[in-house]
Amino acid sequence: APLEPFAVTIDFATGALVPDPDVLDRRLADLDGYFVADIDDPGVGAYTVHEVRVPPTGNNLLSSTTVLAPGKVGDEYFFTKGHFHAIRDRAEIYLTLSGEGLLVMALEDGRTVTKEMRPGIANYVPGHWAHRSVNTGTTPLVFYAVYIGDAGYDYATIAERGFPVIVVEGEEGPEVRPNPRYVA
Ligand code: PA5
Ligand code: NI
Repeated sequence: APLEPFAVTIDFATGALVPDPDVLDRRLADLDGYFVADIDDPGVGAYTVHEVRVPPTGNNLLSSTTVLAPGKVGDEYFFTKGHFHAIRDRAEIYLTLSGEGLLVMALEDGRTVTKEMRPGIANYVPGHWAHRSVNTGTTPLVFYAVYIGDAGYDYATIAERGFPVIVVEGEEGPEVRPNPRYVA
């Protein structure tokens, strides 16, 4: 049977949803091994994901807000784990609601594209591109993601290989540099 139409409200500043039934919290401890430098305080909050509850099937659109804290580990700005979709060709859209950052996208062959994230920008992530958000600002980076419901997550490939680039604070702001630990 068809689902019932519904609406959620989104707080653009905090990413909170109403209703907000599925909230996932990631601490720096969950990002152990992802940064070049060692993590000082594994208890620090990194990001929160608020999911809109819809069956994860290919005929639905899943969506969520992500609230990514500002901060750095060593010179690297806080980021999300990043993933390929388990079904590789599934696409996604990110609409930034507040804050500023960079969206790092990479193909499995290592080709990388980095796009600006700021309020009002809708980033299109085609299938086959791993994606990671990086908060290069001083306030939370909040964005709304919409994706095909059966996409699924492949975290293992990024956990093992890393992204081809890192985003670090340089003399004149954020710099995208080759990741010395990338496994090509
Ligand atoms: O669907 C997405 O790509 C996002 O909602 C991410 O899942 C979210 O930003 C958290 O990042 P990750 O799933 O890489 O930990
Ligand atoms: Ni995704």
